[in-house]
Amino acid sequence: MSAAQKCRLAVLISGRGSNLQALLDQAASGELPVTIAAVISNRPGVQGLERARQAGVPALELDHKNYPDRPAFEAALIELIDRQQPNLVILAGFMRVLTADFTEHYRGRLLNIHPSLLPKFRGLHTHERAIAAGETEHGATIHFVTAELDGGPVIVQARVPVLPDDNPDTLAARVLTQEHRLYPQAIRWFAEGRLRLEGEQVRFDGQPLMQPLRLEDFANPTEARR
Ligand code: GRF
Repeated sequence: MSAAQKCRLAVLISGRGSNLQALLDQAASGELPVTIAAVISNRPGVQGLERARQAGVPALELDHKNYPDRPAFEAALIELIDRQQPNLVILAGFMRVLTADFTEHYRGRLLNIHPSLLPKFRGLHTHERAIAAGETEHGATIHFVTAELDGGPVIVQARVPVLPDDNPDTLAARVLTQEHRLYPQAIRWFAEGRLRLEGEQVRFDGQPLMQPLRLEDFANPTEARR
């Protein structure tokens, strides 16, 4: 990717697409220096596909139910993604487990957002589990994707308090607001060439990241885009 070219994204979704919407909005306003080449959903007819269409972005469906098994679905998915020639593949509420063949194919250029402070609460129902565990702090994480589910090298996290009267929905809403700031920030860093994966090590501005970045340390957008 030359400096003159924008980073091309393929965004994979399975549903609502509110994180996708944050990316579409920031790409349209120029805040995020990317081209969203395509949005791909494994579930037909979901809201996120409509959001893509509204933004004039190709909205593609690849229904996993049309394939006999996971490898066959993934082979078709890889072909469809690669046809878009993305520099970066974004999982934004994509609800299919991916095999090592897939994650290796996109190693270092595949990001996921997970609604917890990883390594806490991998998997589903994170908000409910955080409340049940008596956590006072919760949040969301952006990480490079590897074959280990929700286990790839962590890049940046956003934190929110867990309040005494929270239920999973109120907590999810608080986290989601931060997710919509968190994903654009991580993608901006990648697009600017500030972020990369070397082996299992995340490098930020060329330096090995010894612990996850914290979104609140980059609260000032000017500083964040330095
Ligand atoms: C988000 O909570 C994200 O962290 C998780 O799935 C949800 C997707 O929401 N991976 P949306 O489709 O972006 O609204």
